[in-house]
Amino acid sequence: MQLSTPQPARHPAPTTRASALAYLIFDRPDLEQAERFLRDFGLHPVAHDGDLLFLRGTGSAPFCYVVRKAPAARFVGLGLQVDRLADLEALSRLPGASPVQAVTCPGGGHRVELRDPSGFVVHAVSGREPVAALPRRAALPLNSADTTPRVNQTQRPPLAPPDVVRLGHVVLELADYQATCAWYTRHFGFIPSDVQVLPDGSPAVAFMRLDLGDAPADHHTLALAQGFAAMYSHSAYEVVDADAVGMGQRLLRERGWKHAWGIGRHILGSQIFDYWQDPWGDKHEHYCDGDLFTADAPTGIHAVSRDAMAQWGAPMPRSFTKPRLGPANLALLLRNLRRSPDLSLRKLLTLARIFG
Ligand SMILES: [Fe+2]
Repeated sequence: MQLSTPQPARHPAPTTRASALAYLIFDRPDLEQAERFLRDFGLHPVAHDGDLLFLRGTGSAPFCYVVRKAPAARFVGLGLQVDRLADLEALSRLPGASPVQAVTCPGGGHRVELRDPSGFVVHAVSGREPVAALPRRAALPLNSADTTPRVNQTQRPPLAPPDVVRLGHVVLELADYQATCAWYTRHFGFIPSDVQVLPDGSPAVAFMRLDLGDAPADHHTLALAQGFAAMYSHSAYEVVDADAVGMGQRLLRERGWKHAWGIGRHILGSQIFDYWQDPWGDKHEHYCDGDLFTADAPTGIHAVSRDAMAQWGAPMPRSFTKPRLGPANLALLLRNLRRSPDLSLRKLLTLARIFG
């Protein structure tokens, strides 16, 4: 199986190599409601000034989630960590980039604000001060047929929001797939780990990892999917083990939040996953046990299908990938069909047949 398009592909000499997904930014009309969901999901608020809410995991990042008070709910964009001030200077010379600015929010550092070709805001950030990790439970010792670390002891994970350790990845849908994918590979050094393609060889989803050289990186930190418009698909947060995923499901269900899909184990990335909707219908994923790859691993190409989404678990509900087709989205669809070189009615119908 082969790709029929130039992207996704590694860039031989990217402008920078991002070293982490630092944070995501969301606009929400109701910060209290946002905080209620995110606390139940397992994030910890660090600062709240009325119009801005910062949340963190238990790891060393000062925050990984920003909520801005705004009239309409929308996903705004993402922060990508780069390691050197020289990286920020190089990025500040790109068309439309801001100058290098000092950051006043938790963790400090410097940043450059950019916009990717699909219109998502991208902050390149450097020099954030790490914070002390918060206490969390260790992974449970599991008895198996091969090893029995637990004797005369029971297994009782706490009934509490599962501690999110860190932000893992974000998945975005795009109309302008080629230009957007090329931008992230060229300017931030993303490496395609696995690509799912349509029967004509054009990419439907690219799972991309950070280039950390010989250090292991998550199978995907950014995944880009061909859609009819630029849209948030979901974001994913690492928890300590499968019992945290399961206890998270029980707790979120008991507190009345809306389940999206899970529990199961993905194929590409291998994570044990469970997806929940926030109060605005945006999907948030708990996961554990994801694959790690160094920069050496080659790109895998696979046919896209519903069956390729999980090795086991509940079947993916149709609602999971169904777009909200209100009048605004219909107008976007028609406009992008005329405008975007990556979209055709045939491609959209193929995607709808597979996922619809
Ligand atoms: Fe995911």
